[in-house]
Amino acid sequence: PVADRIADLLSRMTVEEKVGQMLQLDARDDVEEQVLRQHVGSILHASPERIALAHELVAQTRLRIPLLVGEDCIHGHSFFEGATIYPTQLGMAASWDADLLERVARATAEEVAPTGVHWTFSPVLCIARDLRWGRVNETFGEDPFLIGELASAMVRGYQGDGPGDESAILATAKHFAGYSETQGGRDASEADLSPRKLRSWFLPPFERVAKEGCRTFMLGYQTTDGVPITINDWLLNDVLRGEWGYTGTLITDWDNVGRMVWEQRVQPDHMHAAAAAVKAGNDMIMTTPGFFRGALEAIERGMLAESDLDRAVSRILLLKFEFGLFEDPRRPDAERIAESVGSAAHASLNLEAARRSLVLLRNDGLLPLLDGRAADASGRALPEGTPRRVAVIGPLADDAQTQLGDWAGNSGQADWLPEGHPRAMITTVVDGLRDTVPADWAVEHAEGARILTLEEDPAGAFFPDGQPRPQIVVPCEPDAALIAEAAAAASRADVAVVVVGDRIELVGEGRSTATLELVGDQVALLDAVAATGTPFVVVLLASKPLVLPPSADRASALLWAANPGMQGGRAIAEVLLGLVEPSGRLPISFAEHAGQQPTYYNQIRGQHGNRYADLTQRPAHAFGEGLTYTTVSYDELRVRDAELGPDGVVRATVRVTNTGARPAREVVQAYVRDEVTSVSWADRELKAFRLVDLEPGESRVVSIEVPVAACTLVDARGNRIVEPGAFELLVGPSSRDEVLLAAPFTVVAS
Ligand code: IFM
Repeated sequence: PVADRIADLLSRMTVEEKVGQMLQLDARDDVEEQVLRQHVGSILHASPERIALAHELVAQTRLRIPLLVGEDCIHGHSFFEGATIYPTQLGMAASWDADLLERVARATAEEVAPTGVHWTFSPVLCIARDLRWGRVNETFGEDPFLIGELASAMVRGYQGDGPGDESAILATAKHFAGYSETQGGRDASEADLSPRKLRSWFLPPFERVAKEGCRTFMLGYQTTDGVPITINDWLLNDVLRGEWGYTGTLITDWDNVGRMVWEQRVQPDHMHAAAAAVKAGNDMIMTTPGFFRGALEAIERGMLAESDLDRAVSRILLLKFEFGLFEDPRRPDAERIAESVGSAAHASLNLEAARRSLVLLRNDGLLPLLDGRAADASGRALPEGTPRRVAVIGPLADDAQTQLGDWAGNSGQADWLPEGHPRAMITTVVDGLRDTVPADWAVEHAEGARILTLEEDPAGAFFPDGQPRPQIVVPCEPDAALIAEAAAAASRADVAVVVVGDRIELVGEGRSTATLELVGDQVALLDAVAATGTPFVVVLLASKPLVLPPSADRASALLWAANPGMQGGRAIAEVLLGLVEPSGRLPISFAEHAGQQPTYYNQIRGQHGNRYADLTQRPAHAFGEGLTYTTVSYDELRVRDAELGPDGVVRATVRVTNTGARPAREVVQAYVRDEVTSVSWADRELKAFRLVDLEPGESRVVSIEVPVAACTLVDARGNRIVEPGAFELLVGPSSRDEVLLAAPFTVVAS
């Protein structure tokens, strides 16, 4: 049995080997030093060559304990040239489709496993609230229930049938917990979270995936109520290990142990930091080389016992034994790589994911372009048979790198991939339109504006430990000639498609933005296109919701594409033309103004100041919104039993009818409102949703089930309970109150 093998190995390991087993180091550094002298248990960010070298080095070690190889494959195999890169997690969340997410995670695992990587640091379960945060794109958005559904699906996809499955990889739920509750959107700032607030919103998705069997959890960078998560005894031991009974492996984030010394200054040196981290229950220490000496000193001084190490090392060895790594370390396998990485089947799944990630936010009828309804500036319909001239304008219309988004081998994280992914695998919006418009249409491209340049940062390195981040983003100066060229192209065209948004340099870890406005010359570009009078569509290729200028309101249509991945340009073209129906729904609200932060829909009610003197608090587009090319009506919401006990299930039906002329995929959303609560609580919370395909004219009665046990709140003592009393089930096409049908029900005490 595995337990005996672990005990046997532990009895033969030296203290140095045990400390090393707990270390995961960056394979871009000296792998020989790491494996032979620091006895590392794991490496990350390793090219196939580095992985092969590391395995050779392991073969020279005394006990030949295989390595675990980790990587951030969060929307595809981020750092493997030629791998399939899907839309970002936020983009795919717009599908609201757990099955799709599971298939994408499975396909990702099929590409990752043959490359010798055993462990992906995905999915991200952080709740995105302040849109200025640089990592909003990595999340599933703002709702804990939606996050839990989609994250569980990805965990199932990655972990497959478990260790015996040759394509299974370990999933990681991250970043436990509350990392996204930033101050001013600034990455990894102090998260001002009470235990009650954590339990109310931030912990439920993690509890869900813990129960789903997610094998590893990664801890966030931040401190919560003054305590770094790395040593937060209450979160790690009372809640995660205790209440939830979680038996998986805990890994820190990047240098969390060192950070307690050099950044947060809550530990005087690495010895104290290492002792505190081990005692708190961390198993794997990511990229703190000083942990090795620190932990050994802590043992010598009696601050740590060898048995403290044994607990963590056993968990790591368990993963290795279960995955059979002692028998087969799962080295990179050229034959399987050739079969799987970037395969045609994955490209087709990727196209499906890209189509499903697009959210149509406004349309005055110009779209779909192939519907024959495109009109010129005066509103006059174009004569039948007129060759359409489409101007594709904007700095992101042909920007392959931004289309892929962060964690795609293009963000300075992978120095073995200087060129990023092969351009030929990526369809930009320009490519997509050229490939899909009818033969007698003409597509003209104009860049129109530039977004930013990078300059030396006069303040020096970004990270105090000397890790270089020496450049800062500087918006580009207006370039009148580029804008004039784009305006001329728009004037010559029947319709303009303007692709604006953010760029990779404005996205990601340590790259939060102070504003949400379009950077560089993009506002001037939109003004110029709007002034031509040519009907235009704005395609927002933005990692997260941005705030658009008034000229964008003059656009006939607005499509949010997030970072739609390799096939994104094709998917965008297909939706604009009407070859594919738009079906995405917002997993996150769009603000009218950066100063409205936060704008998430499930805010605590009872703020009588819930508007600004100069602005309402109403978001520009609310959670759940998204248009189709048809109209769908909701009626006849019926709750079967209007009175239920605590073990009951609210069973309801609603009739949904496609009242327009085109098919639609409707996302029927069910929210619950607890009428009177003992503590202040959100006015409504998503509790269920159903995806329903409707042909023109089709009507379907959709059933919805919400267990009463899900209609909870967290009371003043921090307990999650159902409070008997009056509730409402709210059903409709988005979280906006005015579009929801309501049906009352009552919960009685048992
Ligand atoms: O997995 C990531 C994490 O999300 C942020 N810091 C670095 C880790 C490893 O690359």
